[in-house]
Amino acid sequence: MQLRTAVMFVLALGVGGVANAAGEIVIKFSHVVAPDTPKGQAAERFKQLAEKYTKGKVKVEVYPNSQLYKDREEIEALQSGAVQMLAPSLSKFGPMGAREFELFDLPYLFPDQETLHRVMDGEVGKKLFAKLDSKGVTGLTFWDNGFKQMSSNRPMHNVADFSGLKMRIQSSKVLGAEMKALGANPQVMAFSEVYTALQQGVVDGTENPVSNFYTQKMNEVQKHMTISNHGYLGYAVIVNKKFWEGLPADVRSALTAAMKEATAFERETAQKDNDDALAKVIAAKTTTVYQLTAAERAEWQKALLPVHKEFESVIGADLIQSAYATAAQVAREQAAPKAGKKK
Ligand code: LMR
Repeated sequence: MQLRTAVMFVLALGVGGVANAAGEIVIKFSHVVAPDTPKGQAAERFKQLAEKYTKGKVKVEVYPNSQLYKDREEIEALQSGAVQMLAPSLSKFGPMGAREFELFDLPYLFPDQETLHRVMDGEVGKKLFAKLDSKGVTGLTFWDNGFKQMSSNRPMHNVADFSGLKMRIQSSKVLGAEMKALGANPQVMAFSEVYTALQQGVVDGTENPVSNFYTQKMNEVQKHMTISNHGYLGYAVIVNKKFWEGLPADVRSALTAAMKEATAFERETAQKDNDDALAKVIAAKTTTVYQLTAAERAEWQKALLPVHKEFESVIGADLIQSAYATAAQVAREQAAPKAGKKK
């Protein structure tokens, strides 16, 4: 690209925009997990598609594993324009002043992926993204990881087993209340520090989808895992608003198309990645994997469900009610005989 055109690009991009010496628009996409996780793979898929669909006008640089920034810092970096794109977990929007995102942390709220997707992709998702506007951030889409499992060095079958355990959580007040409801002591900590903290006994345990657990080698430092599916971990892909709005319209629409495809890929791969990771954890034999019985699950639910009411005023009763209604609707559809099915 000619120097003059490159200069025009930089001017057109405004605050938060970066063009390199070759005049390409650079999108720095920072994240905290390993490249072979659902988020890591989808970020790479987005890079390939974005560069192809913009015919090389855009270059996406993906920085995995907290290489550039840790949890909290990455959000500040996005707001200041030091990076252009992130996909933080939905549990990390509270410190930014968007506590409503903690809806997704409420324990045992979402029975299945279908309910989650309808909530994210519908009115609730729109309302949540609207909250980001005043913070200089634009929400593009939601990505999955999956349901979380508990781990520690102690078997966790009954609620009483959590008594006194120091459990690492993400920066969400709902997750703090969840751990307290089980009798554990929650400790907020950046994802990049969890392995060492577990190894050194700074914390006793944590909760994560199995793909995160395995790719961070947490199975080396956690003797027990309980398949509890007690909560969900997903992501919002977000961009610096000024950068996004400053893009030429054709570039923005090519990136939107790339993101749509990357999202479909991400959602298809997430569950499979968690299933594969669980098989690897079992094969590694360093962690005993326990499946909750129905009675134990009922006991966990009894302890955890009051957290919904506790956070009604923070998250909004309307958002919580909407999630309940969607779950009930999905359950009705699943129970109804398939249309056209012969008797
Ligand atoms: C965590 O901090 O446990 C997760 O949010 C990491 C991630 O991005 O999946």
